[in-house]
Amino acid sequence: MNTYKNILVTGGAGFIGGNFVRYMLDAHPETTLVNYDALTYAGNLESLADLESEPRHVFVKGNVADKRQLEDVFTEHAFDAVVHFAAETHVDRSLTDAELFIETNTCGTQRLLDAARAHGVKRYVQISTDEVYGSLGPEGEFAENSPIQPNNPYAASKAAADFLVRAAHKTHGLEVAITRCSNNFGPWQFPEKLIPLMIANAQENKPLPVYGDGLHVRDWLYVQDHCSAIDAVLHKGRPGEVYNIGGHKDVPNIEVVRKLLAILNKPESLIAFVKDRPGHDRRYAMDSTKIRTELGWTPAHSFEDSLRQTVQWYLDNREWQERARSGAYQDYYRTLYGNRPAASA
Ligand code: NAD
Ligand code: DAU
Repeated sequence: MNTYKNILVTGGAGFIGGNFVRYMLDAHPETTLVNYDALTYAGNLESLADLESEPRHVFVKGNVADKRQLEDVFTEHAFDAVVHFAAETHVDRSLTDAELFIETNTCGTQRLLDAARAHGVKRYVQISTDEVYGSLGPEGEFAENSPIQPNNPYAASKAAADFLVRAAHKTHGLEVAITRCSNNFGPWQFPEKLIPLMIANAQENKPLPVYGDGLHVRDWLYVQDHCSAIDAVLHKGRPGEVYNIGGHKDVPNIEVVRKLLAILNKPESLIAFVKDRPGHDRRYAMDSTKIRTELGWTPAHSFEDSLRQTVQWYLDNREWQERARSGAYQDYYRTLYGNRPAASA
């Protein structure tokens, strides 16, 4: 198996990208990762602070939608592969600011594809999502050939990006692969998403806002298992293919919230049913047979154990949660990297 030596990881200061950077540094001792991230509200270099003196991790501040910045980073580093995580990721935010999602997720993907092609990148992996398939009824699972039927602006911006990635392969022969994963959880997730938000609110005895009747179903996967799946697709996935990734852990939201309250030893009276999210997909479930049989991937973490570990991580990192929620990452970043040259500041 060919191991890529010089990989551009976009969005590596975010939740999954940051976990992926760590995963890859451990799994591939000869690989260098250039972490290219705009440091939006969701970008957090604090999660990578202990990698400051790691020579195989290079941080570059940059926007995936900015052609000039992309040209600079591709010219300076001869990448053999690109793994594209950077995105606006929160569905609720996309309901009020769809344009930013299209600019970053859709236009940003096209500009990155253009740069990757112009600079002879051998492998491009697009980190997509199960949301592009839309919503399921009470039965069935999404397969890779299920119709693409996004129901919210975030999902639509990601679906459009998937089509552009496919087109870059069909038209220009770029060696792409697309991963579509279900809901992730684990350390360093921005506390606007369901699990970290509920943990944060419960700690402060604040209401836990559950949308609608709470019976919307998501398939949960521990972030480390998503990272190992991406590694498998990067190194072994067939060009032009889509790979679904899922944990087969389909749980209604209310049940996730009850589990969290039980772990935290907090009362269910904190649960507050609130107005539903417009366009809220009722159920996701993933058929991930293809990646399991073709690439030999399988999740290594159980939902219950990882959920407990995740809760403990948030309890141990309360200050991080508070800094994240108060938008203090940028200050932290300046403290950490303030003396670096302008290109990485
Ligand atoms: P996140 O919001 O935690 O992090 C996103 C990162 O992208 C941040 O560091 C942010 O600074 C950066 N970013 C945003 N706009 C940028 C831009 N214009 N240029 C450069 N960097 C930019 O996101 P996440 O949850 O880690 O998701 C990562 C990827 O995985 C996304 O593409 C998302 O669609 C996909 N995904 C997420 C999940 C999930 O459950 N979180 C599941 C499936 C797929
Ligand atoms: O399915 C993969 C997707 O998972 C990723 O593509 C997205 O980037 C990621 O944000 C996530 O999207 P969701 O909308 O599923 O995640 P969120 O954590 O916002 O919500 C999970 C479920 O919980 C969803 O059904 C909405 C519900 N919810 C969420 C919040 C924030 C609540 O009931 N209350 C809440 O306060």
